[in-house]
Amino acid sequence: MSKPKAAVFASGTGSNFQAIMEQPDLACDIALLVSDQPVAKVIEKAKNNHVPTVIFQAKDYKDKSAYEEMLADKLIKAGVEWIFLAGYMRIVGETLLKKFEKRIVNIHPSLLPDFPGKDAIGEAFRAGVNKTGVTVHYIDAGIDTGPVIAQAEVAVLPDDTEETLKKRIQRAEHRLYPEVINHLLGK
Ligand code: GAR
Repeated sequence: MSKPKAAVFASGTGSNFQAIMEQPDLACDIALLVSDQPVAKVIEKAKNNHVPTVIFQAKDYKDKSAYEEMLADKLIKAGVEWIFLAGYMRIVGETLLKKFEKRIVNIHPSLLPDFPGKDAIGEAFRAGVNKTGVTVHYIDAGIDTGPVIAQAEVAVLPDDTEETLKKRIQRAEHRLYPEVINHLLGK
């Protein structure tokens, strides 16, 4: 039986994309990589993994619904059923939320609802917490909000720098995200 198809949306380095691709028994096929940043490192990673890419720039469209209509069209044509956000630094709008209801999942580098937004690791570090972590959640129209699916705690050690903490959080992300994807897809 063929596996369900999914797309990964990413704006940056793509270490989570790579971790998903490297999961040996991944329960879906990654059919597309979508990026809003034409020079993002994740695009190179997609090419190396032979994953087709859809690259766009929001400024080329009238508004969010215009580029999301374009994306939805390409996703549906490619047979995509699930969307996994992996460092996609845009708020998903009504168009995609409606067409992929309960099928858009995000990973965030904190124990939500703590530290939403773009600098979760830096904010947790500066706040002096002794633990933080990683959250995988369904998305809604907010910023890093929506029902939590799974979380993993990560200790903040006394001699951590923001950089060492970031590395530990990323290792947790790379373990958790592929695992949760398989769980969601029934593997
Ligand atoms: C990841 O740490 C992800 O959790 C975070 O962006 C990073 C992307 O790294 N996402 C957010 O902060 C969403 N608010 P990657 O490009 O190496 O996967």
